[in-house]
Amino acid sequence: MSLALATLLVAAAASLLFIGVLLGDGVRVLRTRLRQRSADRPIELRVAAREEVAGTLLRLSLRRAWGRRLPSFAAGQYLTLIAPAGPDCRELRRAYSLAAWQPGRPRHYELGIKREAHGALSRWAWAQLQPGARIRVLPPRGGFVLDAGAGELVLVGGGIGITPLRAMLHAALARRSGPARIVLFHAARRAEELLYRDEFMRLAAADDRLHYVAVVSRPDAAWKGVRGRLDATRLLAGVRAPGRADFYLCAGVALMETLREGLTAAGVEPGRIHWEAFGVAASAGGAGQRVSVGEAAAFETAGEPTLLAALEAHGRAPPTECRAGSCGLCRMRLTAGQVEWLLPAGCVLPADEILPCICRPVGDVSLV
Ligand SMILES: Cc1cc2nc3c(=O)[nH]c(=O)nc-3n(C[C@H](O)[C@H](O)[C@H](O)COP(=O)(O)OP(=O)(O)OC[C@H]3O[C@@H](n4cnc5c(N)ncnc54)[C@H](O)[C@@H]3O)c2cc1C
Ligand code: FES
Repeated sequence: MSLALATLLVAAAASLLFIGVLLGDGVRVLRTRLRQRSADRPIELRVAAREEVAGTLLRLSLRRAWGRRLPSFAAGQYLTLIAPAGPDCRELRRAYSLAAWQPGRPRHYELGIKREAHGALSRWAWAQLQPGARIRVLPPRGGFVLDAGAGELVLVGGGIGITPLRAMLHAALARRSGPARIVLFHAARRAEELLYRDEFMRLAAADDRLHYVAVVSRPDAAWKGVRGRLDATRLLAGVRAPGRADFYLCAGVALMETLREGLTAAGVEPGRIHWEAFGVAASAGGAGQRVSVGEAAAFETAGEPTLLAALEAHGRAPPTECRAGSCGLCRMRLTAGQVEWLLPAGCVLPADEILPCICRPVGDVSLV
């Protein structure tokens, strides 16, 4: 073979390799873009089954048309419901944890929704999400996911906060090399509000690894289980080796703070305490604080529970999704004044940015 032919062949092979690399990269970029786009695109689901529990709790099973498979998810993640539940049928978005887990791409999603006394979307769901009704949702997401080793796993749900923990329990029980011991605590005011209690008792009877502890603060005479409030002492008494256990908490803000403080004081490493809040407590904020957003005229707060609620009342709200400091979508830059954080931020933020969904102004503030 002449030198010229050999050079030509080497050059052709190099070009083919180069084109192959380019094509491979292109396909990878396209796949990533498509995945990102489908993560942001709403899916239409239908209510396949509905069950009302204790007058305020709603169990829903949602499916796609023709029973097509749904995006997979990690135990602990949530769906965002999109519904015309606001004033004048304005579209609202709220997060709801996936309350059941199956490996791979499931054929249905399960939710557990508490109807809040004055809640916009939860009351809409109670009234409108009847069997056959359609609802748009954003695909599953969220960083509160089960990542426990083979040690002791402690799942703690306060009230409706049990939903992500039920999915985590399903996932942990399904793992061959899963946790050696699982303790599931569920606290509620009344025994009938202990959602999934029968299932948890059945699972605990069938699997030695699972210990189910239900705690009721306002029991009736028939209640034979643990009475009173759940606190860190009670929690630690049920765990064999707290220093080596992984704790997953989802409850009201006050209970979660008490438990986190108690566990940390007992020597549990903060990295072993995982938690998620469903939102801040709905207590009234301050009134008469001036809020400026960019160049627009300032307005005054009127006791709204969060800065986000005040911005919404004046049509200046940023986009939102979780409303609990996890997704980071509502972030704004604080250019003057100070805010009080009602919950720690669940995402990393630059020093001058705030999340209005979990902040309240302390005096006058300016935002962009
Ligand atoms: C990651 C995540 C997962 C979640 N998972 C679940 C779940 O599995 N199940 C579940 O039920 N919830 C869940 N939530 C909470 C859910 O997203 C909603 O926040 C909740 O359903 C309330 O929404 P809403 O529109 O009904 O209430 P909103 O209208 O947003 O009101 C919020 C609160 O303020 C109160 N309120 C509103 N107006 C007034 C008023 N005028 N006077 C007094 N009080 C008032 C309401 O009663 C309610 O408690 C989750 C939240 C997050 C962030
Ligand atoms: S809406 Fe998700 S962080 Fe505020």
